[in-house]
Amino acid sequence: MSRERLLEAARRTIAHAKAGSAPQVDTIFRVPADSYLDPDRWGREVDLVFRRFPLLFGFSCEFTEEYSYRSMEILGVPVLVSRSGDGELRAFVNTCSHRGAIVVAEPEGSARRFTCPYHGWSYDSSGELVGVFDNDAFGELDKGCHGLTQLPLLESAGLVFVGLNHQGTGELDRYLCGYDEMLEHLGLGDCRFVGRQAVEGPNWKVAYDGYLDFYHLPVLHRESFGTNICNKAIYDAWGPHQRVSAPDSSMLRLEGRPESEWSSKALTTGVWTIFPHVSIASFEVDSSIIGDGSGSLGRMYMVSQLFPGETPQSSLTIQNFLIDFSVNSEVQASSVDAYKRFLLGVVRDEDYATGFGVQRGLATGAKDSVLFGRNEAGGQRFHQWVDQLLETTPESEVLALIENAGYQSQS
Ligand SMILES: [Fe+2]
Repeated sequence: MSRERLLEAARRTIAHAKAGSAPQVDTIFRVPADSYLDPDRWGREVDLVFRRFPLLFGFSCEFTEEYSYRSMEILGVPVLVSRSGDGELRAFVNTCSHRGAIVVAEPEGSARRFTCPYHGWSYDSSGELVGVFDNDAFGELDKGCHGLTQLPLLESAGLVFVGLNHQGTGELDRYLCGYDEMLEHLGLGDCRFVGRQAVEGPNWKVAYDGYLDFYHLPVLHRESFGTNICNKAIYDAWGPHQRVSAPDSSMLRLEGRPESEWSSKALTTGVWTIFPHVSIASFEVDSSIIGDGSGSLGRMYMVSQLFPGETPQSSLTIQNFLIDFSVNSEVQASSVDAYKRFLLGVVRDEDYATGFGVQRGLATGAKDSVLFGRNEAGGQRFHQWVDQLLETTPESEVLALIENAGYQSQS
């Protein structure tokens, strides 16, 4: 089913590539400038979008070992993810049942037990309270009711998602609307994780607009990617999650070959975004970037996690890198590092430098609204979804909205 969907999309993209065309939506769409600036609205976006949707935490390949764990703070919530002895991956609020201290301070490691540094209470890898320091002095306590607070977690397509709402339905898969079945074809579960780096950026929507936008590529990125890059895009959506693919000449290579031989790699080009905060882009790593000239090593994925910052004017992006090849020499390792530095520069010095300028421009009040053209269906859909979610309070209605939207392809 999901491969058939990729084939359909590829046939359509090839037809557009041959015609030099791309789909358009009916109208130009306006987003009020205030939608990027208003602090009250921004607070509601954090609460009604980010605290509700599954957020990408990390990757299955980071948790292959028994008892491996990672901790990180997401929107002020300290989160711990741990692979326990039973093989299950679980997420917790990383706060002690005794007096609320952060239990695990280390960002990653391997542990059968987590011991709170404040009073020495300890938890096993599945979050159960197993030790109360000087228990006799403390008093009688039902340990079974005082484990770490669990958060919903979903491991799918090589990705680990966590929900920040421990009181919600926890049905994270329903938020993904079948999109994770498509993401399986990227093969992230078989990749190696080769590092992450952080970039500070502007308002999360200013930043996210850029991930859905191919229109700017040959203009803003003329020095980095060059001018010979397709500025057209086709948007396919699964609920609010969108794949952006380019009807460029690379797709024509598939023509004349039996569809059964069209590889997953060829069928999954473009940018796969996961609403509200992830973009997965892929690059062919060629060691010629460092002048070695020995050719392509394989595919590198840059998985960007975008989090709203402490104010409406700030965000933090973590760029995660995964590769589908093994690094066997120092030259290859330097090529991988060179790509990481290159992509940091592109996003920090081109995209986000421009985004900070957008913010200053909007703050002048000179423009009431900004525009998304008929060729910018992705940005239009993104803003429409955020608007709808701010109007929809019960979780059951949010899930119904997503399920009713279902899969929508652009022809
Ligand atoms: Fe860009």
